[in-house]
This record gives sequence, C-alpha cells and structure tokens, in this order.
Amino acid sequence: MPHIQIIGIGTGNPEHLTIQAINAMNAADAIFIPTKGAEKDSLAAVRREICNRYIANHSTKIVEFAVPRRVTADRTYLQSVDEWHASIAEIYVGLIANLPPAGEGAFLVWGDPSLYDSTIRILERAQKLGSIGFEFSVIPGITSVQALAASHRIPINLVGKPIEITTGRRLLEQGYHTQNTVVMLDGDLAFSKVGDPEVEIFWGAYLGTPEEITCAGRLDDVADEIIKARAQARQRHGWIMDIYLLRKGHDFDDL
Ligand SMILES: C[S@@+](CC[C@H](N)C(=O)[O-])C[C@H]1O[C@@H](n2cnc3c(N)ncnc32)[C@H](O)[C@@H]1O
Repeated sequence: MPHIQIIGIGTGNPEHLTIQAINAMNAADAIFIPTKGAEKDSLAAVRREICNRYIANHSTKIVEFAVPRRVTADRTYLQSVDEWHASIAEIYVGLIANLPPAGEGAFLVWGDPSLYDSTIRILERAQKLGSIGFEFSVIPGITSVQALAASHRIPINLVGKPIEITTGRRLLEQGYHTQNTVVMLDGDLAFSKVGDPEVEIFWGAYLGTPEEITCAGRLDDVADEIIKARAQARQRHGWIMDIYLLRKGHDFDDL
C-alpha cells in the first residue's frame, strides 16, 4: 500500500528543514508541490528550492498540481471550505493513484501540518473516499509562531499564563480577551480595531525569508507604522503573510 509523508518545511527559510524531513524527502518516489496561481508562486518557488537543495535521490520525481480556487459566492465560510476540501481530496486521490503499489509520496507543508493547515484532514477525507488505500505519517516543521518568537527574541507566553492562537476573522468577531493572543491569517488589519492602550504588538511578515520585516511596540504607537509597512510590502511582492502576538501585562504581575 502507498505511504504518504506530510512534511513540515518551516516558513520560508530552507534551513528550517529538519534532518527527518530531508531524509523523508529523499525516500519519496514523488514529492507533490501545490501551485496556487501567480500570487502564491513564490511559495511554490520555496518548495522547489528546498527540493533542489536537499534531494540527492535522482529517482525522486517532483509532481506539481494546481490547487482549485475556493468558491465563496452564496455559501457560508464553512460550506465553502468543506466543498473546497472535497475537491482537493479528489486531486490527492489522483496523485496517490499514480504512485507505485508500495510507493512513498510526500506533501511539503508550509510551517507545521498541525497549525492552520488542512493537508492532514484532506488526506483523511481522501482515505474515506475509499477508491485507493494508503497510510500516512506526519513530520513536524517550524511554525510561523516559532519564527515570530525567534525573530523578536521573546517567549510566546508570560510565566505560567496561557496563549490563544486565533485568526484575524475571529479577533474581529470576538474581540481581544486573552493576555497573549497570536493572530494568523489576518487580511483585515484586525489589530487596528483592538482599542486597548495597554496592549503591545510583536508583528512579523515573510518571517524566515530574506524579505522578513518585523515591528514591535505599544499597539497604539506602532499600528499605523505596521499598516503602512504591510501595504508597501504587499504592493512590492503582490502578496503578504504576516502574524502577530498581542500581549497585555508582564511576567510576575500577580506576585
Ligand atoms: C494557512 S496558515 C499556515 C500556517 C503554517 N502551517 C504554520 O505552521 O505557520 C498561513 C498563515 O500563517 C502565517 N505565516 C505563515 N508563514 C509565515 C511567514 N513566513 N511570516 C509570517 N507569517 C506567516 C500567516 O499568518 C499566514 O496567514
């Protein structure tokens, strides 16, 4: 039966790859690289560079596949994602069906497969379709949360305190209520609507890549600077990926 490795590749720096990841890539008959249109082409380019840099096995094939666009019209967010995942699961079935009977395939997943990534759940969906049998394993990678913390040289939590990881959409809907909140997938500048003078922000875009930008400070003081830097970078590159930590309070405040 074919076996699939879901490999976390980190957030854009080829040196984020673990030795476990490199060994799994070299053991694969085929590496599947998603392409998502021009704006995300540089993400596919990072994956290609990783393959060029680390694959020494000449029999490993690189197989690119186009990811369909998510249709949003006349659907709730969840309906639209569910339908999108169903169509990607069909594509995965086709890719795996082309592997040798006991072959190894690998998906290179941005960051870590456990964090705001659906490769695992889509592969489970592909298994449930029942047309092909396969097994899969997961190899962890460096997340954008870790890349953010490393670039700012900070621990993500305050001593003994919890962390919330959420999306820009949720922050807008539910407001800021946990002392340490990491916000991902924010296309709506949700931080600019927090409106709490005690909150600090640690922001980063293109973390781990040569284009990395960071900014930190009291949210009210630096929000405009981040909005401007974000808009300029987006125009320059045609796309942006950014993440931030909102923090209120300090270690040992409760002593
Ligand atoms: C679909 S999620 C994928 C997260 C990924 N699995 C991880 O482990 O970080 C994409 C979001 O991750 C964050 N992200 C990923 N790579 C990043 C990077 N290099 N710099 C800043 N944020 C990044 C952004 O919030 C982006 O909107």
